[in-house]
Amino acid sequence: MSTETTSRLSDFLRIADLDRTGLDDLLNLAAALKDHPTAMLDERRGKTVGCYFNKPSTRTRVSFEAAANRLGMLPIMLRPDELQLGRGEPIADTARVLASFVEAIVVRTFAQADLEEMAAAAGVPVINALTDEHHPCQALADLLTLRERFGELEGLRLAYVGDGNNVAHSLLEAGALAGMQVAVASPPGYEPDAAIVAGAEAVAAENGGSVRVVTDPAAAVELADAVYTDVWVSMGEDAERDRRLRDLEPYRVDEALMAKASPRAVFMHCLPAHRGEEVTAAVIDGPTSVVFPQAANRLPTEGAVLATLVGPT
Ligand code: CP
Ligand code: NVA
Repeated sequence: MSTETTSRLSDFLRIADLDRTGLDDLLNLAAALKDHPTAMLDERRGKTVGCYFNKPSTRTRVSFEAAANRLGMLPIMLRPDELQLGRGEPIADTARVLASFVEAIVVRTFAQADLEEMAAAAGVPVINALTDEHHPCQALADLLTLRERFGELEGLRLAYVGDGNNVAHSLLEAGALAGMQVAVASPPGYEPDAAIVAGAEAVAAENGGSVRVVTDPAAAVELADAVYTDVWVSMGEDAERDRRLRDLEPYRVDEALMAKASPRAVFMHCLPAHRGEEVTAAVIDGPTSVVFPQAANRLPTEGAVLATLVGPT
C-alpha cells in the first residue's frame, strides 16, 4: 500500500490547518489503513503518543489507542486528575515536559486557546481530539464515510441540522475544503461561529463548493445527500440544558425531515446520540443511518493522522 504523504503538517488543531492535498492524503491513507490495518506496524515502533483527555470520550480515546497500537506506538492515556496540570501546573510547562517523553500529544479539552498554547509550547505535534470549537478528527471520519458511500466528495450536498457547535464547525471546514455543498440549519443564537463560516465560504469558493447557513431545517435538507446532526447539549453545557432542549426542539431529525432529502440520502451523527432529542429512534436505527460505519471509520482516520504527524524512525 502507498503510505506517501505530501503534507508538511506540524500540528492538527482544526481542519483549516489542511490544504486540499493534505486532506486528500489523509483520506487516502485512512482508506489504505482500513484495508491493511497493520501495514505500518514497524516504522514507528518504540515511539509514544501521550493522550490527554480533559472530557469523557469513548470513540476518540479508544480509536487513538488502537490506532497507535497498529502503528507500533505506545499510547499513554492521561486524565487531568492524574497530572499536576489538574493541580495548577501551567499548560505550557506540562506540554514542554510531555514533549521530552513522547513523539505526539493528542488533546481533548475545552478552549481551543488552551490547545493552541499547548501546541506552541510542545515542540512535538499536537492533535485536536475535540475542543469546544472544533472536532477535526471526527470530520475526517465523516468525509471518509461519505467518500466510501458516494464515490467522490466534490459536489455532494451535506445538511447539518441543529446546534452550530464544534462538530458543525469542523464539518463546515472539511466540506468546504472537499468542494461539497454544505448547508447548516440552526435556530437564532445557535448558529455556527461567523468567522468559521466566513473562512469556510472562502475555502468552498476556491474548491468549487458552497456554504449556506439558514434557520429552516427543511431548506437545508432539501435534496441533501447526507443529513447530519449532533447533540443539543455538548460536554460542558449541562447548565444550559433546559433552554437548549426548548430552543432546539424544532430541529429534531425525524422521518418527515429525512423525506425532504435526496432519495439516496444517508443519516449521520458523530455519536453519542440522544434518541428522542436531536434524532428519532426510527431515523438513527433505520435503513438510512450510517452512524456505526461512521464511528468505525474513526480508527483508520486516527491512524492516518498519527502516521502523518509522527514520521517513521
Ligand atoms: N464522536 C466522538 O468524538 O465520540 P467520543 O466523545 O466518544 O470520543
Ligand atoms: N458536540 C459534542 C460532540 C461529542 C463527540 C460535544 O462536544 O459534546
